[in-house]
Amino acid sequence: MSQSLAWNRKDLIDVEFLSRAEIETIFTTATAFKKAMAVNNKKLPYLKGRTIVNLFLEPSTRTRLAFEVAASRLSADTITVTGDASSLSKGETLRDTARNMEALKADIIIMRHCASGAPNYLSKAVNIPVINAGDGSHAHPTQALLDAFTLLEKFGTLEGKKVTILGDILFSRVARSNIICLQKLGAQVTIAGPSTLVPKAFEAMGVTVSHDLRNALEGADAVMLLRIQHERQSATHFPSIGEYTSSFGLNKARAKWLKPGAIIMHPGPINRGVEIDSELADSEHSVILEQVTNGIVVRMAILHLCSSAHNNETIQLPT
Ligand code: CP
Repeated sequence: MSQSLAWNRKDLIDVEFLSRAEIETIFTTATAFKKAMAVNNKKLPYLKGRTIVNLFLEPSTRTRLAFEVAASRLSADTITVTGDASSLSKGETLRDTARNMEALKADIIIMRHCASGAPNYLSKAVNIPVINAGDGSHAHPTQALLDAFTLLEKFGTLEGKKVTILGDILFSRVARSNIICLQKLGAQVTIAGPSTLVPKAFEAMGVTVSHDLRNALEGADAVMLLRIQHERQSATHFPSIGEYTSSFGLNKARAKWLKPGAIIMHPGPINRGVEIDSELADSEHSVILEQVTNGIVVRMAILHLCSSAHNNETIQLPT
């Protein structure tokens, strides 16, 4: 079945660039894929004959594997390249690396990079689609989209829903992309944590900033935990992990402050016993593994839409 959907982009760099209609197109496509896979768990043919390069220059479990599974479900061939296994380690530039991948007939590059802005830079250096799988502390669009998709499955709408993002906001690409995506879909976002990691300056993004955990959790429909990103911090932003946990860690007693029926989210990887207790991470209120599973269909949708736009093809969806 071909559909007229709001999409004309070859790249996915940041949710900031997406309209609400484009976000909804991703979700319509992901929902069609999810239904098709529930009925018949066979591969879909939409990327048959295409080659997708996963260029992951930072560690990843969920994002990389979900993109690999998504590509496989769409019948594409995938090649994974890591920094120390490529000529980047010999000093080749990112631009030359990507242009060589294009010369080797890659059809899509999916990239994770420690530098904010690297995928945007790359998307201008090559003609094939570039998908951002996380760049520095800047953006993680596919994570935000799968998080919103999971929330929509639970609540039907995000209009007026209260979502609290708790933890290391300052260094988090997940937080930044989620704030933008959730607001585009009508949610009210509160960010919470120590003032060193959750500065008041974030109010410019239209969120409520709270350093009082009880206030931040009371009445929330969902709480999204973030881990402390030591790899991006050059200084200590709180006295010790123990002190962070005692002030801001989510445990069973504090989770009672949430709205009844509220859900608990985490993009992973989890630091169990730091930002969240294990009994909550594994509880019936947790949708953490549903987020991971939804990452497959949301990434299938993004690959299919960007490839269709790049090749001037009408968007086909399973019936
Ligand atoms: N959520 C996320 O980006 O996890 P990975 O680092 O394992 O990909």
